[in-house]
Amino acid sequence: MKVVGVVGSPRKKGNTSFLMEEVLRAVEDPVIETDILYLSDYVIEECDGCDLCVRDRQCPKDDDMTTVEHALVEADCIILGSPSYFGQVPAVMKTFIDRSRTMKMQNTRLKNKYCAVITHAGLRNGGQEMVASSLVNFALGHGMLVFGTCEDPVSEGFFVAGSLQKDDGWRFVKKDPLAIQTCKSMGKRIRDVLKKS
Ligand SMILES: Cc1cc2nc3c(=O)[nH]c(=O)nc-3n(C[C@H](O)[C@H](O)[C@H](O)COP(=O)(O)O)c2cc1C
Repeated sequence: MKVVGVVGSPRKKGNTSFLMEEVLRAVEDPVIETDILYLSDYVIEECDGCDLCVRDRQCPKDDDMTTVEHALVEADCIILGSPSYFGQVPAVMKTFIDRSRTMKMQNTRLKNKYCAVITHAGLRNGGQEMVASSLVNFALGHGMLVFGTCEDPVSEGFFVAGSLQKDDGWRFVKKDPLAIQTCKSMGKRIRDVLKKS
């Protein structure tokens, strides 16, 4: 079984990456392989809206999207991680989302894969829920099976969400205990879901 994390931040060593790595560390299991795709490592051109993916089931662009697609098609579970840029996903993530339409047109290649989401923002109310909603909609559009965390019904949200802002100032992502606790719950949930499937 394989879990692939997709980091949709232009920063490879940023806050979203940190949370993604925490989730994957918590998945740790001898029969589950994990991998991370940092979208900033790949050249993925914008979708031109030519609709050739609808007509020919192929994208005319010749870039690294094919490599990313292969990695995702191999996965049983995909974790999507994205920071909030004005309450939306950054361009690197949006470009990936748009270009993924070819996989949908190719007989929904991501159908029935499990999916979980991670978000991070500067502000405590910095658009995390809107970003999570965009990622969930992307997953639903591909026929994926989305799940959240449910380890601690009192203190945890439905998905991993971190912020640099706290009540009395600012912190590094490593000092966001609730986000880190949710990463651990998410990792455990992924392991449980995969092993029961
Ligand atoms: C262009 C831009 C827009 C941003 N917009 C928001 C925002 O709307 N709300 C917010 O809380 N933080 C915003 N931020 C801050 C990022 O969400 C925050 O620094 C996040 O931790 C970055 O994640 P990363 O380290 O994974 O790249 C923005 C940052 C940039 C560069």
